[in-house]
Amino acid sequence: MRNFQTVCWTVDKNVHNLNEDPQIIEAAALLRRNEVVAFPTETVYGLGANALSDEAIGKIFTAKGRPADNPLIVHISSEKQLDSLVSEVPEIAKKLIDAFWPGPLTVLFSKKQGLASKVTAQLSTVGVRMPDHPVARALIEEAGVPIAAPSANRSGKPSPTTAAHVKNDLNGKIAGIVDGGETGIGVESTVVDCSGGVVTILRPGGTTKADLESVVGEVVLDRALLHTNEAPKSPGMKYRHYAPSADLYLVDGSFSFIQDLVGNRRKSDIKVGVLTTDECKQDYHADAVLSCGRRSDLHTIARGLYSALRTFDEQDVDEIYSEVFPKEGVGEAIMNRLKKSAGGRVIKE
Ligand code: TXA
Ligand code: MG
Repeated sequence: MRNFQTVCWTVDKNVHNLNEDPQIIEAAALLRRNEVVAFPTETVYGLGANALSDEAIGKIFTAKGRPADNPLIVHISSEKQLDSLVSEVPEIAKKLIDAFWPGPLTVLFSKKQGLASKVTAQLSTVGVRMPDHPVARALIEEAGVPIAAPSANRSGKPSPTTAAHVKNDLNGKIAGIVDGGETGIGVESTVVDCSGGVVTILRPGGTTKADLESVVGEVVLDRALLHTNEAPKSPGMKYRHYAPSADLYLVDGSFSFIQDLVGNRRKSDIKVGVLTTDECKQDYHADAVLSCGRRSDLHTIARGLYSALRTFDEQDVDEIYSEVFPKEGVGEAIMNRLKKSAGGRVIKE
């Protein structure tokens, strides 16, 4: 693999005319030269490359260590760009686009002939989204091509919500990082399939099931999200993912049950962590007690989750015991990611 002097540009997302920002122009020029550049979106940081070039896309897979059968989401800055990517836009998809773009919703379409084959991992469909982040949109617009972007972490690790997380994982492996501050939502976009006129959620995310239902009526969850023995339609959902180095266990039980578990494990010669919320942070005794947000507002948990998982690694924790959350609203995505991080390990009281 090439060794890069990774450039880091700091950009204020609140300034007007971001398209004229010299740093955005420089980053976009690298994208046009088929280099790989990380950038913020409203969900997590993405690792961008020219979606029309197999050469550029190959560099994303190499930098991330990503399995070649896992397709990428293509990011656009205007609806016009959709025509160059997809063969048709079904009625129901149009409704979703009108309601949720720009925003954390990825829609699968039949792909147009001739699209770089590595982007879609040879599938016949392509996932597209329009991010709701001024830096992302200015960069895509300035690059002048649709930008394929997975989350900008090493494959298998928690997604990055700050430029520092990206740097930790990918410094020296990519051409540059646009630092636009911390991302907002904290979990990735919702991925939906609309084939057959029904909206199916393949990956829960920033756009909730209730949000989708308010626009298209009934929405179903892919069977693989409900039954672990089903093969997921979204290839990325089959891997252990979003995981810290420590072994993570979800604990569906009371405070005292979790504290007892932790207390017992600490008798062995290992470092034990607890993932909790502001409400209970003071009450636990462990080697590391981290809060990912406020239980009373699940959006704060979504925002803080990945960063907390990364902090356990920095503190060399060996085992993490995590509270569980209600699967309401963005809680569906939070629990989906936590279960993946835990490799499915759930301890019930
Ligand atoms: O919020 C997000 O979606 C972030 C930001 C950077 O936009 N991106 C992101 O990309 O999460 P990634 O590559 O980490 O996850 C993409 C997910 C994977 O589970 C992948 O398998 C699925 O979307 N996916 C992409 N294209 C697909 C397709 N054609 N069919 C089925 N699943 C697809
Ligand atoms: Mg990812």
